[in-house]
Amino acid sequence: MTTALTGIKPTGTVHVGNYLGMYRPALALAERFDARYFIADYHALTTVRDPDELRRLTIEVAAGWLALGLDADRHVFYRQSDLPEVFELAWILGCSTAKGLLNRAHAYKDAVDDNVAAGRLPDDGINAGLYDYPVLMAADILLFDTDVVPVGGDQRQHLEITRDIAGAFNAVFGEVLKLPDAHIEKEVEVVPGLDGRKMSKSYDNVIPIFAAPEELRKLVMRVVTDSRPPDEPKDPETNNIFNLYRHVAPGDDVARMRQGLAQGGLGYGEAKQMLFEALDATFAKARRRYEELMTDVAGLEEVLADGARRARALAQPVLQRVRDAIGAGPRLA
Ligand code: TRP
Repeated sequence: MTTALTGIKPTGTVHVGNYLGMYRPALALAERFDARYFIADYHALTTVRDPDELRRLTIEVAAGWLALGLDADRHVFYRQSDLPEVFELAWILGCSTAKGLLNRAHAYKDAVDDNVAAGRLPDDGINAGLYDYPVLMAADILLFDTDVVPVGGDQRQHLEITRDIAGAFNAVFGEVLKLPDAHIEKEVEVVPGLDGRKMSKSYDNVIPIFAAPEELRKLVMRVVTDSRPPDEPKDPETNNIFNLYRHVAPGDDVARMRQGLAQGGLGYGEAKQMLFEALDATFAKARRRYEELMTDVAGLEEVLADGARRARALAQPVLQRVRDAIGAGPRLA
């Protein structure tokens, strides 16, 4: 059976951009494949500095996955930090990773560029965890002989780095690690946020999917538009309302909005109301389930503990294969 694996960093509430780019395709893959989905809390540690916040965000992500329909009995759903195997493999892989490869990783390079532009030393304020981030991610993936990794377009380079690391390891130690493929949803690579830039927590322009209806409505009303009056024709393709609506509304409604905007007659107020209703309809059931799950944190912890047990049972033989290949521990066979 094909294995799909993905991780979510617990750094903020689930928003429409994450949902379309990652959760929805990942949940679709889980219909066909064996899924190992996890909460990458130690990746979040590169930025989150408050223990209560890390715990809260972790539980929110757990509730989010389950509310959106991940079946934790059929699949394996866990918290990264519950698996010591991941961190052992990360060290081993680091020893097969060219340092120059990590110098070129986008997140690190961007941080360096920002420093240089601001006249600071290149590595100012950058921790080694941020630098090693791609190695830990490779360990997450390679530990499960993963076939496909559903991720957003921003993770493309991380998957390439994972493949490079696995290839470098295999070139020295033999065909030990399986090279994974990225599964990136083309159509929704860029979901616009409230201000029209890519929806991202770092731009503070997100629409959280579990927001209460009043909050959701308020946010939708803030979606940026120009000031053209209702009857003037508008290009749907460059319209932020439409570019969100097209992903969450049924096909004929999408066609209706497209036509209304293109021909004129559909004003932004009305289009926003349509968008609000489509978002509310898409997420209402998951939101209720989410609220219910969040009232039982102990229950969520039990789900994660069970997932960790099963994940470790899957990971241990793979790690043992790696240990044998490099010469760790006594010779077993
Ligand atoms: N880096 C990913 C992100 O920020 C999260 C992640 C960590 C991940 N480990 C992973 C994704 C393994 C896929 C596979 O979105």
